[in-house]
Amino acid sequence: MDWGMKNRLARIIQPGDGRAVMLAVDHGYFLGPTSGLEEPRKAIEPLLPYADSIMLTRGVLRTSVDPGSNVPVVLRVSGGTSILKELSNEDITVSIEDAVRLNVSAMALSIFVGSEFEKQTLVSLARLVDEGEKHGIPVLAVTAVGKDMARDARYLGLSCRIAAELGAHIVKTYYCEEFKSVVQSCPVPVIIAGGKKTPEMEALELAFNAAQRGAVGVDMGRNIFQSDCPVGMIRAVRAIVHEKTSVKEAYKIYESAKGGKARRAAQN
Ligand code: 5RP
Repeated sequence: MDWGMKNRLARIIQPGDGRAVMLAVDHGYFLGPTSGLEEPRKAIEPLLPYADSIMLTRGVLRTSVDPGSNVPVVLRVSGGTSILKELSNEDITVSIEDAVRLNVSAMALSIFVGSEFEKQTLVSLARLVDEGEKHGIPVLAVTAVGKDMARDARYLGLSCRIAAELGAHIVKTYYCEEFKSVVQSCPVPVIIAGGKKTPEMEALELAFNAAQRGAVGVDMGRNIFQSDCPVGMIRAVRAIVHEKTSVKEAYKIYESAKGGKARRAAQN
């Protein structure tokens, strides 16, 4: 692996502890104005100080993130579908030249193992890895789960392993029972998505369990930006990932930030 690739990976997975807190705000690429992200800049700005990196599309990056901000960017480069159609019919939507121009630390693409357009997405991953290798840019493969797929260790293990075999440098998947076996059979670092919004305590438990069972961190979106206190949630998740804080202690961080937010609102 060359210096540029290693350097970019080190901006995402922190060299100090080998862990990563990635903030996922790319949902609009197929969901449109997702709840909590209607005004991307407003949602993103307060969270940036607590994110090791941010995953988003080039449209939101250009319009809603200050170029002076030093946050490493994981650029979503797959898409071409919407929630109204077959989601697996994705292609690569950003050229490598534009990814370089945007100075990204990694490129992210979804694979849809078992779905109608499985092959297309897997070949796209392999091509993206080829381009990434030429320019020293790592690739994050997202194991998207088709409607008819079970989110179990057998399926997610299959998807993660295929992603790694095709050259992905990091894999993002979902937490599941027997998660440890998914991590063990994937030779590159694994991070988890948060999934649909759940009560804050459950989302923190998910982050904690995943980290305990081998995930290097999280790429969490809705459970942060749809929370009633997004800053409290990202700080709590950060404590779990980087400080190995218990769920109870992390929840206190969220609650205390929420209390502060309520007090400030009452004073204004
Ligand atoms: C969509 C994505 C999202 O970034 C991912 O699902 C993470 O967000 P969330 O925590 O809301 O699930 O890759 O394909």
